Amino acid sequence: MYLSAVNHRIPLSDGNSIPIIGLGTYADPNSSSKEGCAASVKVAIDTGYRHIDGAYVYGNEHEVGDAIREKIAEGKVRREDIFYCGKLWVTNLVPERVRPTLERTLKTLKLDYVDLYIIEMPMAFKPGDEIYPRDEDGKWLYHNLDLCATWEALEACKDAGLVKSLGVSNFNRRQLELILKKPGLKHKPVSNQVECHPYFTQQKLLKFCQQHDIVIIAYSPLGTCRNPRWVNVSSPPLLKDAYLNSVGKKYNKTTAQVVLRFNIQRGVVVIPKSFNPERIKENFQIFDFSLTEEEMKEIEALNRNVRFVELLMWRDHPEYPFHDEY
Ligand SMILES: NC(=O)c1ccc[n+]([C@@H]2O[C@H](COP(=O)([O-])OP(=O)(O)OC[C@H]3O[C@@H](n4cnc5c(N)ncnc54)[C@H](OP(=O)(O)O)[C@@H]3O)[C@@H](O)[C@H]2O)c1
Repeated sequence: MYLSAVNHRIPLSDGNSIPIIGLGTYADPNSSSKEGCAASVKVAIDTGYRHIDGAYVYGNEHEVGDAIREKIAEGKVRREDIFYCGKLWVTNLVPERVRPTLERTLKTLKLDYVDLYIIEMPMAFKPGDEIYPRDEDGKWLYHNLDLCATWEALEACKDAGLVKSLGVSNFNRRQLELILKKPGLKHKPVSNQVECHPYFTQQKLLKFCQQHDIVIIAYSPLGTCRNPRWVNVSSPPLLKDAYLNSVGKKYNKTTAQVVLRFNIQRGVVVIPKSFNPERIKENFQIFDFSLTEEEMKEIEALNRNVRFVELLMWRDHPEYPFHDEY
């Protein structure tokens, strides 16, 4: 068990630490408002969340930053209590765009530094301000680059004090090894943010990461919002699972609380998204019960090895991460 009982944080390999639960802030702009996002960040901080997962590409960094600063101004929290994770989008992976992109995020958030900055995906796209670059025939415009060069530019951002810790997201083992074995590596990735929940347990990647002191941050820990525009809905809804429901009943907990508890109990950070005040609170009530070893094993056995987030539209990208076993 990696969890510190005092403040629900787990140590990172660079000496910093990360709160084991954070609020996810990605929401489909067609079905949720930016104000809803700001209100949710404030409810989350009032509830006790100290970790907020954001990204430039979510289009709501401004509101997230305002909400965090409002809570700091109120005296509810200090800046150093908050752990903000930002993400470097795929059109900004060329080294010369890395620092300006992070500086733009800091300006939008109106913060001096982010706690964690991660490469959102290992697949580089045509550099520029077009978030989803395609040619006139609708074909994706990919870009060839050495991810180690991106990493060196990130290391310089950490040395300049713009970010406390560096990580990656959606990296497979080979891509992690590429960074870990980089000649002259100055700062190791402290975390890898990937899909992770009882239907996609990431057992092998988790073991590899634990061996290398890399914390897994579980995205879509509740099984996503099941928007068929980007979610593989051929896998059944996680929160309807009969076994998980029965465990919830035993502890007088909801299924959402059980699946979050499963991950934190094995040292995996969770970042459930909710913009509903009751569910934001519900998702945080996971520290007052624990699953037995047998229940942990039974839940691990629910693994179907099918992703909700497959990113199949980019499967012909040379760095598409999900062709490899893990
Ligand atoms: N790095 C990446 O590539 C990547 C990819 C995907 C996601 N992420 C990050 O991970 C975060 C979480 O992932 P996600 O948004 O895909 O999915 P998720 O957190 O697994 O699920 C979110 C969905 O579950 C609902 N929900 C929340 N709490 C609930 C509860 N207690 N009971 C029932 N339903 C509940 C939410 O609706 P309400 O809002 O109405 O409660 C929303 O529809 C994102 O917001 C984002 O920050 C990162």
